[in-house]
Parts: sequence; structure tokens; C-alpha cells
Amino acid sequence: MSQRMQQGQPMIILGDDSQRTQGKDAQSMNITAGKAVAESVRTTLGPKGMDKMLVDSSGGVVVTNDGVTILKEMDIDHPAANMIVEVSETQEDEVGDGTTTAVVIAGELLDQAEELIEQDVHATTIAQGFRQAAEKAKEVLEDNAIDVSADDRETLIKIASTAMTGKGAESAKDLLAELVVDAVLAVTDDDGSIDTENVSIEKVVGGSIDNSELVEGAIIDKERVDENMPYMVEDANVALFDGALEVRETEIDAEVNVTDPDQLQQFLDQEEKQLKEMVDQLVDVGADVVFVGDGIDDMAQHYLAKEGILAVRRAKSSDLKRLARATGGRVVGSLDDIEESDLGFAGSVGQKDIGGDERIFVEDVEDAKSVTLILRGGTDHVVDELERAIEDSLGVVKTTLNDGKVLPGGGAPETELSLQLREFADSVGGREQLAVEAFAEALDVIPRTLAENAGLDPIDSLVDLRARHDGGEFAAGLDAYTGEVIDMENEGVVEPLRVKTQAIESATEAAVMILRIDDVIAAGDLSGGQTGDDDDGDEMPPGGGMGGMGGMGGMGGAM
Ligand SMILES: Nc1ncnc2c1ncn2[C@@H]1O[C@H](COP(=O)(O)OP(=O)(O)OP(=O)(O)O)[C@@H](O)[C@H]1O
Ligand SMILES: [Mg+2]
Repeated sequence: MSQRMQQGQPMIILGDDSQRTQGKDAQSMNITAGKAVAESVRTTLGPKGMDKMLVDSSGGVVVTNDGVTILKEMDIDHPAANMIVEVSETQEDEVGDGTTTAVVIAGELLDQAEELIEQDVHATTIAQGFRQAAEKAKEVLEDNAIDVSADDRETLIKIASTAMTGKGAESAKDLLAELVVDAVLAVTDDDGSIDTENVSIEKVVGGSIDNSELVEGAIIDKERVDENMPYMVEDANVALFDGALEVRETEIDAEVNVTDPDQLQQFLDQEEKQLKEMVDQLVDVGADVVFVGDGIDDMAQHYLAKEGILAVRRAKSSDLKRLARATGGRVVGSLDDIEESDLGFAGSVGQKDIGGDERIFVEDVEDAKSVTLILRGGTDHVVDELERAIEDSLGVVKTTLNDGKVLPGGGAPETELSLQLREFADSVGGREQLAVEAFAEALDVIPRTLAENAGLDPIDSLVDLRARHDGGEFAAGLDAYTGEVIDMENEGVVEPLRVKTQAIESATEAAVMILRIDDVIAAGDLSGGQTGDDDDGDEMPPGGGMGGMGGMGGMGGAM
């Protein structure tokens, strides 16, 4: 590209392969890309949302309703489109649920902004208006949020259940919601901190979703090391040793210099004695079960079996940590300083068959701080999608316990915000007022889409919703099953406050960032090599650098 200097001499500042799009062309290219991303997940929103089947280049198939999963699998490479994908990723990290909502709002904000740009409202003005509106929206939501305490198990179950609505877990959501709440409550530390990583998920193909269960303890993907060890130990003291029950070979290599058979025997005896001593150390502290991070020598296995100790070798260090949290034990690095107090306890430790695999179950633990959810389903795809729904659900329960605030669902908060923001717009002067109004309009996309996806008339639904909110019913939302407007709080459709505040915040930030770009300078080919046939000139047609989106558009059409 060239820039004309005063003397009329062109100055080349960009390399031959670079592409540059400026001004309104850049804006409209980016807006189109962002909107296309949102459009691609819109049909999955809500209880009646559809699923997507994503096939990767090697033929792997994912069937999902989860916004963030769809966008990650889609392999989008347009930079502005990726900013919208990031919105869903932030949402996933911060709350775990609401990834579709966040992206759909971002897309609608871009759509509204596009109209304002056409009316010559400056992007900076739109950005300011959007930010003010988002700020106000957060206030309104916070003011109207419902308090939930940690011992309100019933509400927590409703929250867990709402997050699963419309997903693979739906058919058994009553059972699963209870399991999720119990799991999160179990792994909550005394100081209130929660790491849902401590809820392990074990997927089993076979059996029905209804047979899913929660194990208060850990399931380790190992078998006992020796067949002469017990299958099952009850009331087990569990030792966790991150080391090897072996005499290190190097030591022998260094010392043995055999000149006659007696000498060899002596060294072997010596080795055996050391192994026996190690096992004795475990026996002395009263271990019934031992998980060893490294190997266990055959001779040590023999002694352990003779003592009736169930031993597992090569346990991963993450498994050892999990076991420590599950049993209340401590992982020791050396057997020399193991003490009775280092041992954990489990009501039962045993090898069991699960979905055709043998695993070690460490269960019946009182106050286990690490638990395992066994999810069952008919096929691999079913259990994979079940896992994603459960993860959303774990996220919302955790968020609710952290924040203690929830909102009614079914489009209730968005309808309320839309009304209140229109009022608020009057108090905002200048052209920003238009942006605030546009923001209010954009939020309607959620109830509208919920209605559309449920096969309802979106206009009728919006009119009903607005009338009820005008009448002061904050919790009035759309029942996607009957099409009626009902009190969502009474219905038990509730979501954490943060699902909505985070969605609005990230969507606004991403939209604003995209709007403020008026110049796209790409080193190399923005279109990812797909413009090979029309690559005859330096000039790129407006909106042409969107090979990534081209592929996606095709995909959107196919679905
Ligand atoms: N029973 C219900 N009736 C009406 N609306 C519901 C009901 N259950 C959930 N919803 C609404 O559905 C929307 C959530 O839909 P969905 O779970 O498909 O998308 P998401 O949470 O935004 O994204 P994802 O779950 O993919 O991360 C929310 O607006 C929620 O209030
Ligand atoms: Mg959801």
C-alpha cells in the first residue's frame, strides 16, 4: 500500500504480502465477522435450542449445545471473529455457563452499532454509550438479585438444574442436579474456597444416565499390583507414598563386584532386607492400602501381599493429591519419616469393574474433599455432552456459593434491562443516548431468541414480557415449553447473577473493541490462503480478507 506525500511521491511502507483495510470497510468487515460468529450459535440458546454436530478434519465428531465448545471446535481464524470467541472463553472461565448468551449479545450489539454507524454516529460515541449502558445494566441487575445462602440446598439444586436445561443431561436433570450440588458442597474448603477440579468426572459408556452416581472419594485408573493382594479392604488406613518401593539399581551397580556366588547371594539378601524394611515401615504405621508414585519391586510386592496390604504402583502425582484430599491423608516423599498421622482413611478401598475396566475405588470417606461423579450414558457422544452440561452446572453452583446472588432466567433480566435502559437513555444527553437505546434494543435478542428457538412468535412473546415487566414483575420470563409468561423465580428457573453481569461486560468490551478499529493491517494473507485464485493484485476487495469466515458461512448454511 502506499501513502501519498506532499510532493506527490508515493511512499511504500508495507511489504508486498501485507493487506490493509481502512475506515468503514474495516469496520464493516469486522462487524460482519463478529455477527457471523454470534449467528452460528444463536439456534442453540435456551431449553429448546438445537445442537450442533461438528466434524473435524480427521473425522472426529462432537455433538454439542455448549456455545464455547462449538466456537472452539469451529476453528475460526478471522481476527475480529476471534474476539467474539474470546467472549465465550472468558465466560467459560469466569462462570462456566452463559457462553451462548454472551456471544449472542455481542453479535447483537455489533448489529445495532452498524445501524448507528450508517446514521453517521461516530464509533467512539457508540462505544461511550454502550459502556454507560453496561454500567447501568449491572447496577439494575445487582439491585434486583435474590440472595441465596450456602445452606439453601433447594435453590442450589434449581440453579444446577437450570444450567443443564436443553442439554444432554436434561432427561435426568433432577438426579444430576442433586449430585452436582452435593459434589460442590463436599469439595468446599473450610475457608469457603471451591475448586471444581476436585470433582473428578468418570465417564462410563453403558447403562443409563439415571444410574449416574456420586462417589465420596476417588476412583483411580489402576489395578492392584499383585494378584495375591486383597480385592477389597474395609476401614482402610491409606498410605500415600510418592517414591519407589525399590532398591535403586544404581546403588547395586556401584557396589557389586562379584567374585563368587556366595557374595552375590549376600547382596541379594541385603537387597531383600532393605525391601522388607520398607514394607515393615508401612506395616508399623498400620497401613492397609498403599498408593506408590513409582515402581514396586517384585519382592516388595510379595511382602506386601503377605501382610494383606493392597498396593497400587505408578499412581500419578495428581492422583496422589486427589487421594490426599479424599482420604485426609498426606503424601510422603520418604518412608523413613512416615507416621500414623500421615495416613488417610476410607471406609472401603477395592478393585471394581466399571464399564468393563478395572479401577480402584477409594470410597465411603467421611468429609471427603475430593469426590468423583460417575456419569453414565449410552454412547461416547452422549457421555461427552453430559460431561459438558455437568461442568456448566458445577460452575454455576460454585459461582452462586461464591457470590450468594441469583437472578430469574427465561429472558426476565434482559427484558427488564431493556425497559430500564430505555428510560435511562432519556437522562443521557447527546448522541450517546442513541447508543444507550441501541444497547437496550440489543438485549431483547435473548428473549426473542428463546421464543424463536421454542417455535413461538417472538413479537407476541416480547409484547407479553414487556407488559408484565411494565407492571413491575421483575421475574416474569418466558416459559419455553408452554409459551406463557410466568414468574421464573417461582418456577425455579434461576441463574447466578454473575452469568448475566459477566456476559454483558465481556460482550460490551468485545463489541467496543471491534467498533473502534478503523484500520486492519495484516502482515501476510488474512484470508488464510483461500484467495489464491483472485490473488492477482495487491488490492484486497473490501471485506475480502475473510477466508476463515467464508468457510464458516458455508457451515452456518449447512446447519
Ligand atoms: N425452563 C426454562 N424456561 C425458559 N428459559 C430457560 C429455562 N431454562 C433455562 N432458560 C434460559 O435459557 C438460557 C440459557 O440457554 P443455554 O444454556 O442454551 O445458553 P447459555 O447458558 O447462554 O450458554 P451455554 O450453556 O452454551 O454456555 C438462559 O437465558 C436461561 O434463562
Ligand atoms: Mg447454559
